[in-house]
Amino acid sequence: MSMQIQSKRLTIPDITNRKGGEKIVCLTAYTTPVAALLDPHVDLLLVGDSVGMVLHGLPSTIGVTLDMMILHGKAVMRGASHAVVVVDLPFGSYEQSPEMAHNSAVRLMCETGCQAVKVESGKGIANTIAFLVDRGIPVVGHIGLRPQATNVEGGFKAKGRSAAERERIIADAVAADEAGAFAIVVEGVATDLANEITKLVKVPTIGIGASPQCDGQILVTDDMLGLFDWTPKFVRRYGNLRETISSAVAAYASDVRSGQFPGQAELYTLRVEAASA
Ligand code: KIV
Repeated sequence: MSMQIQSKRLTIPDITNRKGGEKIVCLTAYTTPVAALLDPHVDLLLVGDSVGMVLHGLPSTIGVTLDMMILHGKAVMRGASHAVVVVDLPFGSYEQSPEMAHNSAVRLMCETGCQAVKVESGKGIANTIAFLVDRGIPVVGHIGLRPQATNVEGGFKAKGRSAAERERIIADAVAADEAGAFAIVVEGVATDLANEITKLVKVPTIGIGASPQCDGQILVTDDMLGLFDWTPKFVRRYGNLRETISSAVAAYASDVRSGQFPGQAELYTLRVEAASA
């Protein structure tokens, strides 16, 4: 019998226990090969509904379906064996009722094998978070800039610059915390507000365009690898994939056109048969 040594996958309590301690490293992933590359370096992989904009060319996350999230969730699970994998509940798959959210979350977890789901969590979604957590579904909340609310908000704008908005976002954070979310993504908010929320809630905050004082950070992987010509202010580019891909493809096109590809090394040659005895 052969023994397979497997690296142990992190658990939800491993993430929750990092509150105020070692920073939680998170990135988005949508495909198997990228998930496999990221997995050894990160604590949490998010199959974000940003997949709609990043991979499918949609103008926003509206229009991403549960089936799309399941497809990409399965792909990421095939590539990840160490990080906690969280999959987004997309727009329209959870807001109507806790029961609707439960049906969608069960599909995500059973069909992909992911460990948790994420919901964009205004105060009104708190009872849904509690309903899911009570039934064994770990939930990440998402407050501040909520991309699924882009049509209400009139675009992707930083939040928490007025007193009323700050109060609302703090209320959203407390509601998600009290409802039992195991972590809360804090997106696109003023730094001091992110700091206040991080101190206020008992679970880890995961910042994106928020504050270095958050308990963890997340970025859209394709943004930080430099795949797009424009990135938001809060993204630091750790690579320039756009240039790498563009120059590799230009070199390939030139080689094909000049007849230099394929060359001898890339061709199959006739195998010389061994003389029969
Ligand atoms: O969909 C996504 O990628 C996200 C992150 C930006 C947090 O929600």
